[in-house]
Amino acid sequence: MSYQAKFRVWRGDDGDGELVDYTVEVNEGEVVLDIIHRLQATQAPDLAVRWNCKAGKCGSCSAEINGMPRLMCMTRMSTFTEDETITVTPVRTFPVIRDLVTDVSFNYEKARQIPSFDPGDTKPGEFRMMQQDVQRSQEFRKCIECFLCNNVCHVIRDHEENKPQFAGPRFLMRIAELEMHPADESDRRQIAQDDHGLGFCNITKCCTEVCPEHIKITDNALIPMKERVAGKRYDPLVWLGSKLGIV
Ligand code: SF4
Ligand code: F3S
Ligand code: FES
Repeated sequence: MSYQAKFRVWRGDDGDGELVDYTVEVNEGEVVLDIIHRLQATQAPDLAVRWNCKAGKCGSCSAEINGMPRLMCMTRMSTFTEDETITVTPVRTFPVIRDLVTDVSFNYEKARQIPSFDPGDTKPGEFRMMQQDVQRSQEFRKCIECFLCNNVCHVIRDHEENKPQFAGPRFLMRIAELEMHPADESDRRQIAQDDHGLGFCNITKCCTEVCPEHIKITDNALIPMKERVAGKRYDPLVWLGSKLGIV
């Protein structure tokens, strides 16, 4: 069954823009990205939208749909009523290039700042990992880099001035993955706390709520990382060891 849906889409660039109303055909089984594509094909050929896989795997089609950060290709039209107006806006935390396309280079800059895996003198094949360590990494590596978690986190969503000091949940999770890797020899606690702003996170869990891969970012990465940082700072043995230069 087809019907005509009311869409309100943000059109504009970094300097200026507005929400524009459209009425677009919807067919059974379609997702929001299908409707945006139909809009491009029939009424707004210059509408800018970033997408690639249409399967929830490339992380390109992030947007805000009725104010919720979501992947457009994974948001079924059947989640809305037929008379509802569906508002699609670009993710808010990153600067708009045009229409629904934002400049997410903040994230790539943060990624580059994280020191890579450091196995020390250990050669490949020289260490064994426990299954639970493997599973932890596997969970974090489900990340498709849609940056919806970084987009929703209030630390940078509402505070542009925090961006230099805060890497966001996606990259704090990456630091946690390396810190908890049994073969990584770098101490990542100071990097997380001092260089990438772990202390800004007050565990609101909004990042976990929007993650399309259902990664438990807060419970499995951020909180354990905070515990490790606290252990380093407040454990008297760790403190003594650091004073003696052996921890
Ligand atoms: Fe997206 Fe989840 Fe990865 Fe964040 S952790 S970038 S929400 S897939
Ligand atoms: Fe932000 Fe997630 Fe912490 S939304 S405040 S990084 S729990
Ligand atoms: Fe690839 Fe949506 S188009 S995640």
